[in-house]
Amino acid sequence: MKYKIPSILSLVFAAVQYMFNRIIRLFWDPVCNEEDISEKTVIITGANAGLGKCTALKLAQRGANIVMGCRNMAEGEKVRQEIIRETGNTSIVIQQNICSKSVLF
Ligand SMILES: NC(=O)c1ccc[n+]([C@@H]2O[C@H](COP(=O)([O-])OP(=O)(O)OC[C@H]3O[C@@H](n4cnc5c(N)ncnc54)[C@H](OP(=O)(O)O)[C@@H]3O)[C@@H](O)[C@H]2O)c1
Repeated sequence: MKYKIPSILSLVFAAVQYMFNRIIRLFWDPVCNEEDISEKTVIITGANAGLGKCTALKLAQRGANIVMGCRNMAEGEKVRQEIIRETGNTSIVIQQNICSKSVLF
């Protein structure tokens, strides 16, 4: 019984936090909303797979200039073409050595 109350409280807390996040996302989602961001340039690391790829696609749909940070240029190029095909946004470049400031600025 001593341990049940904290675990029930943490479940309630997790449920409240989940609902809160869902409600916030209904009104404001920095990646998926429709606002035009064509004046912005976004650098995305790990952009050839997973969350990075998904983020690159969504932001390209909204018109941003995308710099894809990728280790594997061949794989990166495939994904770059895929994003251009899907979004019509051609302002997408790949950068391999993204750790060097001289490359970016
Ligand atoms: N907190 C959460 O709820 C949550 C949920 C999901 C994911 N994550 C985290 O978010 C990150 C991305 O997840 P994901 O599902 O998108 O992963 P993923 O599909 O494996 O993609 C990882 C990307 O990062 C690159 N990468 C991996 N190791 C690297 C390194 N040492 N140096 C440079 N680039 C590297 C990969 O490049 P290559 O293709 O060249 O390997 C790939 O582009 C992971 O760290 C994951 O643990 C957190």
